[in-house]
Amino acid sequence: MKKIIVGNLKMNLLSIREREEYLARMKKAISKKNLQNVEIVLCPPFIHLEAFNKNLGKKIYPIKSPKNRGVTMSQFNGVKLGAQNCFSEKQGSFTGEISPVMLKNLGCEYVILGHSERRRYQGETGDEISLKVISSIKNGLIPILCIGEKKEERESGKTAEIISRQVIESLSRIRPAMLEKIVICYEPVWSVGSDNVPTGNQTMEARLIIKKVLVEIFGKKFAQKARIIYGGSVSVKFVNQACVEPGMEGVLVGRESLTPNEFIKIAEIINQ
Ligand code: PGA
Repeated sequence: MKKIIVGNLKMNLLSIREREEYLARMKKAISKKNLQNVEIVLCPPFIHLEAFNKNLGKKIYPIKSPKNRGVTMSQFNGVKLGAQNCFSEKQGSFTGEISPVMLKNLGCEYVILGHSERRRYQGETGDEISLKVISSIKNGLIPILCIGEKKEERESGKTAEIISRQVIESLSRIRPAMLEKIVICYEPVWSVGSDNVPTGNQTMEARLIIKKVLVEIFGKKFAQKARIIYGGSVSVKFVNQACVEPGMEGVLVGRESLTPNEFIKIAEIINQ
């Protein structure tokens, strides 16, 4: 399976002008690059999803297909689209919420769920996250489930306990076969938005903890279907340590996704 790089643009691109500039820079950064081994997902704010889909969707790198003369085909699958959150219900009187069905209909394939910033600022609980996870899958989206320990939890030796608990809670409503439709992102809270990065060993350890708990709940056959990626201060300098060496299947990139050139350089490293 391809590795994945997800750009979490968070609450940025404040105007249409900023968004258009970003899209132009991203198109330029990505053009003529060989990125066939990596799945690129961008998660802009909801209001920009439609424009991102139109601009960076499937047909930005047309090449002539030798078999179907005259028909253009994508050189690779193009940039895929994800959202930064969604609600657990499909439709109805839920003022201010966004349904997974709306996201699907706008062209999203992925949705970030359980991000530490939402746990912190919106008080999202494990149970709410598990409702969103199951609803997203049932409505055709792939959740990118974020889990990770805080600094004080790591310092008091609770990393394994916290990671395991978050996995168990968030996946409490899914069936084993659904694991292939899930990406689990290990994002230590102390690394997100800081410049503190875990060592390759710490990331590898977290990966093993996640694997172990998946095997315990779902059995080996299904456990290996879930993709496990890393998030937190990912940059060109750090991507090998964060992703490649510990055997992660991709990365979730925050700040560096706001600079298309840097983001695509990270994608190229993962692509190799
Ligand atoms: P960061 O954010 O790369 O800026 O640390 C990562 C994230 O929050 O997804």
